[in-house]
Amino acid sequence: MDVILIMAMTADGKIARNSMELIDWTGKADKKYFVEKTKEIGVMIMGSKTFDTIAKILPGRKSIVMTRDKTRTSNHPDLVFTDKSAEEILMDLENQGFASAALIGGSMINSVFMEKQLIDYIHVTVVPRIFGKGLSLFDMSFDVTLDLEDTRIIEDGCIVLKYKVK
Ligand SMILES: NC(=O)c1ccc[n+]([C@@H]2O[C@H](COP(=O)([O-])OP(=O)(O)OC[C@H]3O[C@@H](n4cnc5c(N)ncnc54)[C@H](OP(=O)(O)O)[C@@H]3O)[C@@H](O)[C@H]2O)c1
Repeated sequence: MDVILIMAMTADGKIARNSMELIDWTGKADKKYFVEKTKEIGVMIMGSKTFDTIAKILPGRKSIVMTRDKTRTSNHPDLVFTDKSAEEILMDLENQGFASAALIGGSMINSVFMEKQLIDYIHVTVVPRIFGKGLSLFDMSFDVTLDLEDTRIIEDGCIVLKYKVK
């Protein structure tokens, strides 16, 4: 199963100014790319803080929300709260017939997957903005080498960089 990290970041490498910030600053073209790609993949894995900033079920794809808070539950088939490990989540998805999964943040959950070397591809939209301080793609120290597979200029001055993790 391929795990594709799909994120937007500022030109200075920030994904948000703080953990509660809404992801409403990336522009229409990036949003379109995100919706198309995640619908094509069919399933998104995210941390609870990222889900709280989205605060709704995104239609047309499954959301797996990682949390250790057992009081968080859902009756909707497309929204699952789980305290399972990254490996268990991927195994479950594979058993459900998914060929790949979109990992969509935030910094903490991205690091959980990177630490376990479970990320295969990274798609980053570079948005022409600067935040200065804030959260990065990861909140841990890594030394990972990437292969650049594709670059695409989309609207709003954004560039999508597609990497394969070596
Ligand atoms: N620019 C972008 O593309 C983009 C994309 C996504 C998010 N973001 C931004 O990122 C920010 C949120 O990122 P974040 O790093 O603060 O939080 P996060 O990664 O979204 O969520 C962290 C939470 O995940 C849960 N968690 C962490 N490790 C876990 C594990 N091993 N097992 C189960 N649950 C675990 C914990 O939830 P509990 O406390 O509930 O246990 C933890 O508080 C927001 O500002 C959002 O806007 C930006």
